[in-house]
Amino acid sequence: MDKEAAEKRIAELREEINYHNYLYYVLDSPEIADAEYDRLMHELFELEKHYPELITTESPTRRVGAPPLKEFNSVTHTIPLLSLANTETEEDTFEFDRRIKRLLHLKEEDPIEYVAEPKLDGLAVELVYEKGILKIGSTRGDGFTGEDVTLNIKTIRTVPLNLMSKFTPMPDRLEVRGEVFIRLKDFQAWNKTREESGEPLFANPRNAAAGSLRQLDSGITSKRPLDIYFYGVGELSGRKLETQTDILDELKNLGLKINPLNKICRSITEAIAWYKEIGNKRDSLEYEIDGVVIKVNSLELQERLGSVARSPRWAVAYKFEPRQATTKILRIEAQVGRTGILTPVAIMEPVRIGGVTVSRSTLHNQDEIDRKDVRAGDWVLIQRAGDVIPEVVKVIISKRCGDAQPYHLPEKCPVCGSEVLKEDVYYRCTGINCPAQLMERIKHFASRRAMDIEGLGEKLTEQLVNKGLVKNISDIYYLTKEQISGLERMADKSAQNLIDALESSKERELPRIVFALGIRHVGEQTGKLLASKFGSIENIMNADEEELQTIDSVGPEIAQSVVKFFKQDDNKNEIERLKSAGIKFHAIKITKEDKLKDKVFVFTGALRTFSRDEAKEKVEVLGGHVSSGVSKNTDFVVAGEDTGSKAGKARELGVKIITEEEFLMML
Ligand code: IVH
Repeated sequence: MDKEAAEKRIAELREEINYHNYLYYVLDSPEIADAEYDRLMHELFELEKHYPELITTESPTRRVGAPPLKEFNSVTHTIPLLSLANTETEEDTFEFDRRIKRLLHLKEEDPIEYVAEPKLDGLAVELVYEKGILKIGSTRGDGFTGEDVTLNIKTIRTVPLNLMSKFTPMPDRLEVRGEVFIRLKDFQAWNKTREESGEPLFANPRNAAAGSLRQLDSGITSKRPLDIYFYGVGELSGRKLETQTDILDELKNLGLKINPLNKICRSITEAIAWYKEIGNKRDSLEYEIDGVVIKVNSLELQERLGSVARSPRWAVAYKFEPRQATTKILRIEAQVGRTGILTPVAIMEPVRIGGVTVSRSTLHNQDEIDRKDVRAGDWVLIQRAGDVIPEVVKVIISKRCGDAQPYHLPEKCPVCGSEVLKEDVYYRCTGINCPAQLMERIKHFASRRAMDIEGLGEKLTEQLVNKGLVKNISDIYYLTKEQISGLERMADKSAQNLIDALESSKERELPRIVFALGIRHVGEQTGKLLASKFGSIENIMNADEEELQTIDSVGPEIAQSVVKFFKQDDNKNEIERLKSAGIKFHAIKITKEDKLKDKVFVFTGALRTFSRDEAKEKVEVLGGHVSSGVSKNTDFVVAGEDTGSKAGKARELGVKIITEEEFLMML
């Protein structure tokens, strides 16, 4: 290809790649397969290698590869980046609205239109595009001057190096503002690898994002999973825009990524309702947010309102409750679980995090305690991220007092006094009659997914065990109403309710009972598989390791554990006593089990209804098998979306290909 042709092709390729980046990153709806995209990039790389003089800094191939800097230059923002005033209550937020109306001489009942946007907890940046080309990326700094992090910004895949003029004319100059952030799952995974290699952990996703963006070597930044949402502009030349929503639309049309949860609200009441809705979603979002920014939509009104100090009067950050807090560890306790494992738990001064009061946090195991050097009396940073249980992030060493005591799990069980033995990282109580284990076993037995006995909660179980009324699980079925109503906080009515709940639990089906017994390594799913394969409790009890292992997902460890469990006389007696108490051990219908008997399934492509693991379980529960590759033994290939080579192989071998819907019908 001669140079002229190459130049033309390079321009075409860049435009095409930029467009596909837009579809992928901004609209989240790619039109071409990854392989096709890679092919375009590869062609561009090759041409640029051949004609290095045609390389420009904004070519999509130039995201990485600049040499490290010695220090960052500073950048003065032409229009300062303001910060936001906060509100913390609904009342304050109504007051924000009333104040605006006073300033604008409006009546209190005149509604004002707002835009409510999730407030991402990341790092504010400003990007400058000249004639559509990304020239400068800088941090907010003190609002007036920030650091020039252009090379790092360019490594973020969702930042276009060129704006798009497909839907709107190219502005001469655009200063656009946004928030750089890291997704929770990326943050957790990354911290985990840091932990494994002994590096210090980042306290939260925001620090991780900030640390990544302020790297002098952009090669390092390029390996960090940074992302961005844009939310506003500084200068935007040659546009007549009237509202914040116009700005957001315009940014989107230029190829910049906008948060899909931004919402136009016709009044403050609607904005507050949206705040609550986003609050409900908070735990399921992929990233951390710390509030909702509420902005007056009209730019004319914004101008009339102006700003005070360094915050605009027309916007407010309505904050959620924070997710991290510092508190003091009062003591560390060993908690004994149903399998006898001792788990160290930090008992802390109660503190509110993200709307719940936290006073306990697991410290996982002794190794964790040693690694984090957590001591009783320490001040610690704790967090609750997403729907994760609270955990101790780190010790605030600077606040440590001389009397902070290192902790080690005890050598004797704190509940029954039996010897504690170390197994791997775990410490286990060896007492077979340990009441703590019994309590935990009963809690598990009664839990919703096991026997589902309503009313048999922690406090009651504790009393039953401590008073000696229950020495085995089966004893709960022999309790009399008098015994129960004699317990603390047990009225006649609640005693009767418990008796009724126990009675109805006798009808539970076999899979739940197998799970409820608390056999080590036998979870809910294995419970189902054992029940459907063997059909009765007697058959399961009589199966040897070899027979058990004919179930696909039952390996030697599970098989051994099941055999060992039913070999013990205590456990055999328990089953007899449960039977005598009237538990029916209903087997699930055998016809159901046979439905897919010995049929071999292979899955290809993404399923909409299940994950692969769930689909596998469904097949196995019904007696079928799942294999990873297609062969002549395969009965069905289930083709989801974007099927791979397996569908082709199936056609070659004449194996039946079915759709996801057909598969669902079979179930
Ligand atoms: S608007 C004049 N919108 O919150 C308005 N800020 O104190 C100034 N932030 O660090 C900002 N999401 O980076 C705005 N949708 C959003 C935002 C947002 C996050 C951050 C911003 C700044 C802080 C404002």
